[in-house]
Amino acid sequence: MFNVNDNPFVYGEVVPAAAFVDRVAELRRLSGDLRAAQKVFLISPRRYGKSSLIRRALATAARGGALTVEVTVSSFSSYVAFLEGYARALAAAETKWDAASSWLRDAISSTRVDVRSDRVAFVNARSDRDISRLAEEVFALPGRLAEARRRNVVVALDEFQAIAAFDGGSVEHALRAAVQQQRGVGYVFAGSEPSLMERMLGPKRPFYKAGPVMRLEKIPAEEFEAFIDAAFVRSRMKPEDGLGSAIVELAGNLPYDVQRLAHETWDEVRASGARRATLDHLHQALTRLLAEHDTVFEAAWQRLTLAQRAVLRAVVLEDGRGMHSADVRARHRLGGPSTVQTSLAALVRDDVVAREGDRFTVVDSLMREWVARRTF
Ligand SMILES: Nc1ncnc2c1ncn2[C@@H]1O[C@H](COP(=O)(O)OP(=O)(O)OP(=O)(O)O)[C@@H](O)[C@H]1O
Ligand SMILES: [Mg+2]
Repeated sequence: MFNVNDNPFVYGEVVPAAAFVDRVAELRRLSGDLRAAQKVFLISPRRYGKSSLIRRALATAARGGALTVEVTVSSFSSYVAFLEGYARALAAAETKWDAASSWLRDAISSTRVDVRSDRVAFVNARSDRDISRLAEEVFALPGRLAEARRRNVVVALDEFQAIAAFDGGSVEHALRAAVQQQRGVGYVFAGSEPSLMERMLGPKRPFYKAGPVMRLEKIPAEEFEAFIDAAFVRSRMKPEDGLGSAIVELAGNLPYDVQRLAHETWDEVRASGARRATLDHLHQALTRLLAEHDTVFEAAWQRLTLAQRAVLRAVVLEDGRGMHSADVRARHRLGGPSTVQTSLAALVRDDVVAREGDRFTVVDSLMREWVARRTF
């Protein structure tokens, strides 16, 4: 329900339907692929909105009668912990826990299954061989579930790139072998480290050509701007002309950053009791955010080498263009092309800077402003 007193902008969590912008074509495609039990790979940089999109696709699938299961792979500290969490999520998919636990005991025979009120423990799985036999059984669960319940099943494995850390390539092999046999199960594997995900889909890896790949882009700026202005209007704060576009621009149109800046601007307007939302409110919000993040950015800056600091400043001041040109290198005293190259590579690897076509951008738009204002 929309309430004029609630901040309509949401960041730092999966966005609720009311704050979800666009992604119409993406949602249609993802939902369709999952309904057709495809194995979809969803890739984008951090904070573009993968988890939010998945949540909506699962809701659509559930409305269509499917059983849905969502697990964040990166939240587990070991391979066995992941298998336990995954099995638990599958067993709990719309069923009474009593029935779920006996179903699980029937399905897993390679190790003792200890089921507590809301936890599953595989107590005896210790050696690599135990674990790989167990994994085979766990990875078969979605297919068994679909058959037993005569329903489609949709599984979302978020932060999927983390799976490669569990035990080299064998998890990927086991999972790929299992999923390709499951006709009634749609999968979405979402990853926020594009380079790791792309590598995982390469010719020599198990998931090569396992299913369609969706690369999530930014949300079209005009749609985001229109959403922001309209949300201010609904909150009875008339937005100054160009407010939405100033927010999107300042946030580098990164979905998380856009919502953060809009949210904090809204708070400024509310605190001031004004009837209009202005660019001044936006700048107050920005100043406050920068102060709040000062220590974090300071620490990040300290971790950089001098060469990296110079290159980062140049990216900010040159808007990320022509970074290798003699002109830019001379203006910012960056040294030779190979030094610049090395620094840029390190900044990209550490997720400080991203490449967008022929230019570089600072990933965190607040950090960009911080560098512009607080460093020399
Ligand atoms: N469709 C959308 N409309 C509006 N805002 C969005 C949308 N998708 C994402 N956002 C904004 O971006 C933030 C991050 O979204 P989400 O957590 O879904 O991204 P993610 O790609 O899964 O990020 P991470 O890489 O951190 O897991 C949300 O909290 C929200 O502020
Ligand atoms: Mg996410």
